[in-house]
Amino acid sequence: MAKAQSRFVCQQCGASHPRWQGRCEACGAWNSMVEEVSREAGPRGLDAGKGKALPFARLDGASTRLTRRASGIAEFDRVAGGGLVPASALLVGGDPGIGKSTLLLQLAAGLAARGAAARVAYISGEEAVDQVRMRAARMGLEGAPVELAAATSIRDILASLDRPDGPEVVIIDSIQTMYVDSLESAPGTVAQVRASAQELIRLAKQRGMTALLVGHVTKEGLIAGPRVLEHMVDTVLYFEGERGHQFRILRAVKNRFGPTDEIGVFEMTDRGLVEIGNPSALFLSEREQPVSGSAVFAGMEGTRPLLVEIQALIAPSALATPRRAVVGWDAARLAMVLAVLEARCGLALAGRDVYLNVAGGLRIAEPAADLAVAAALVSSHSDRPVPAETVVFGEIGLSGEVRAVNHMDQRLKEAARLGFTRAIVPRRPRARGGAAAALGAGALRLSELARLGELLELFAGDDSGRGNSRGLAKRTPQSA
Ligand code: TYD
Ligand code: MG
Repeated sequence: MAKAQSRFVCQQCGASHPRWQGRCEACGAWNSMVEEVSREAGPRGLDAGKGKALPFARLDGASTRLTRRASGIAEFDRVAGGGLVPASALLVGGDPGIGKSTLLLQLAAGLAARGAAARVAYISGEEAVDQVRMRAARMGLEGAPVELAAATSIRDILASLDRPDGPEVVIIDSIQTMYVDSLESAPGTVAQVRASAQELIRLAKQRGMTALLVGHVTKEGLIAGPRVLEHMVDTVLYFEGERGHQFRILRAVKNRFGPTDEIGVFEMTDRGLVEIGNPSALFLSEREQPVSGSAVFAGMEGTRPLLVEIQALIAPSALATPRRAVVGWDAARLAMVLAVLEARCGLALAGRDVYLNVAGGLRIAEPAADLAVAAALVSSHSDRPVPAETVVFGEIGLSGEVRAVNHMDQRLKEAARLGFTRAIVPRRPRARGGAAAALGAGALRLSELARLGELLELFAGDDSGRGNSRGLAKRTPQSA
């Protein structure tokens, strides 16, 4: 038998060294070496004769259909891709105190009450059973047949789960409090978190159980260590929101069994989380009557349209380098829109501070917001409001062109549904006959732009100052 060989592998970059060293020469990471012993390291590799051949199945073969376990909480089920998949592991990450325990307790109660899973277990490493009960009672869930335990030892947890009548869904709150007793390190360290998660995931796959792991986000925005958990689980959901706001957003960032662009919207009340089926109304609820510097963006979050208000403020700066502050949008994207406005449209922004805010604390990632941001900026700059009841969307290119975005129809329908009457949108591609593609815009009057400069003309042509802009009306083509 070949002699056991040991080498030291950097856990950051994978470089292998013959000796342990404090710093990896290849990538410069400190303290990243882990000893790896391979017994048969030889030039011939593994001896295949000792393995057993795998029984291959055909892609078109018959399969047992996986039935998803739906909790009845529609906002959660949609984000998860239609319910929980058996034999899978989910990670629910978020800041401490954002409402992860609340959400999962409601989820557990929902699953148990609907009989979606034979047994649902909620294991808390942070709260005593009575504390969980107290919380459940406040939320009116005390009648749900959820099984509670307070434990932190993975060995004990595995022993309780791995039984013929064991639970089909288990919630571990939180993975940072769990420990495997064969490891020396303290709970919450990368080694413990990884080992604990590995044991739970292995059992979930083996038993057809769904494991939901709660993970606290560390200060750097990572889940315990260098995203160790994200790679191990099937689905990663983030629960986010601003402390000062009541609403919370559940976002899928990885999903082996569903889409990753869905969001679920909840509101935190004194009786737990309440689903928000119509988030546009929520995000627009505090909008004032037309003021300059505000534009309503018709966005898409996954399969759902979502209307949000974008606010901009341009003010003279006392600083040598004017301030650019963004909340809820990409700062680099703002810099680009500002540069295009300045270079292609002649908007004078030098020596001015620019502030941009997505109202309500939502985060927008879509490039389609470019035109709405530009409208808010131009509106603030010219001190004229964007016309009342108008939504805006469209992507902006570096040469100042306004580009088409997807789901135009759905965005416009949502706007019409919420009582908007106008939309500033990218020019639609003309068909060969010269007519624009048909759009179910209904009652909406469209201002179609091909270039960003045309947006400025809309504001320049507006001398009423109150939004019944002649400029806008003039440019509005016949709606299909
Ligand atoms: P929690 O679920 O404990 O957060 P996490 O598990 O992510 O750390 O939620 C804690 C916060 O939620 C706390 O500030 C109180 C608030 N909360 C309510 O406002 N209403 C409720 O019904 C519950 C259960 C919590
Ligand atoms: Mg908690």
